[in-house]
Amino acid sequence: MIPITRNDSAYAAYEPPRSRSAAPRCPGSSSSGSQLSSTSSVTAIARTPLLKTSYRPVSQSLTATSLSCREDSQMPQPKRYAAGRARALGLPTRGTTNPNRLRRVDRHLAEVHADLLRTAATPLVIDLGYGATPVTAVELHRRLSEVRPEVQVVGLEIDPERVAAAQPATRDGLVFQHGGFELAGLRPLVVRALNVLRQYDESAAREAWTTIVAGLQDDGLLLEGTCDELGRRATWVTLTKQGPQTLTLAAHLRTFDRSSHRTFDHTLGRPGDLAERLPKALIHHNVPGSAVHALLTELDAAWDRAAAYQAFGSRQRWRAMCEQLDWPQVGARRDGEVTIAWASVAPD
Ligand SMILES: C[S@@+](CC[C@H](N)C(=O)[O-])C[C@H]1O[C@@H](n2cnc3c(N)ncnc32)[C@H](O)[C@@H]1O
Repeated sequence: MIPITRNDSAYAAYEPPRSRSAAPRCPGSSSSGSQLSSTSSVTAIARTPLLKTSYRPVSQSLTATSLSCREDSQMPQPKRYAAGRARALGLPTRGTTNPNRLRRVDRHLAEVHADLLRTAATPLVIDLGYGATPVTAVELHRRLSEVRPEVQVVGLEIDPERVAAAQPATRDGLVFQHGGFELAGLRPLVVRALNVLRQYDESAAREAWTTIVAGLQDDGLLLEGTCDELGRRATWVTLTKQGPQTLTLAAHLRTFDRSSHRTFDHTLGRPGDLAERLPKALIHHNVPGSAVHALLTELDAAWDRAAAYQAFGSRQRWRAMCEQLDWPQVGARRDGEVTIAWASVAPD
């Protein structure tokens, strides 16, 4: 078992609980994960500094009371921690989750960043905010174990009751702890935080980015984003310690039905439908005149122009759309995914 490295200053404040084949094919498109680029595809692009945020010591940065969540009738009132108690940074929110919901981001992590996972001295991965059940953390561990059998996954939850409820799912390489944006003092290679920040204010979400990436290993990654209940539509930002690097949009295009051995195309609608699943940093900026609005508009236009490819299936149409897109794409082409340089979509 690989020892988990702790960031001592942050850990001091934390007491762990005891208890393809069809034509036409897009020129230059790749068809398999084996051709996917490693993390270098992310690190090779221009470093983008964290926008409008500056690093501050954790103690001066996020506190339980400085964060605010959307509070509507469906939301439980956020719990606040008593002064003097060791703090996990953040606030418990709804714990909605679903089996297989995060498969798109997991596959992206396991394939696009395979080299990073394979070569890391300490392959520690945190699933931040796993929700009411630990199912997506279990799946993350299983998927990453195929790439790096020694991977250690820590499910961190800010709701202690969810931490207690997850304990039966503990296994070799997978544990569950209480913690928040301070990452319980751990120093992970990767943090996956899906459907966590969407319930925070935009400014709190930006601060959370800053706090989380400060806790990463030097070549570490944060994948932060949002998806729908079944994970058919997902978007996420990939950040390094240097700030946000890319925006990935991913959509479910095909289903293989085991009983009939037939493949069904899914009606994506249009790529612009992904707008409602944009990460917190972008969703409020999707208005005419903004870069992200222009991107989604261009995706829809390219999707329409690629309509003739639908006869060969949604994957071929998606490839044709990407081929026509006049936007800085990053990494090798992937079915149902497009990754764009953050600098081109960053809000003003
Ligand atoms: C909507 S659930 C998402 C569950 C899972 N990640 C998924 O996508 O299916 C969000 C979870 O994040 C937790 N959460 C919110 N803020 C957190 C924080 N700062 N640190 C750790 N967990 C947090 C909430 O308590 C909740 O259980």
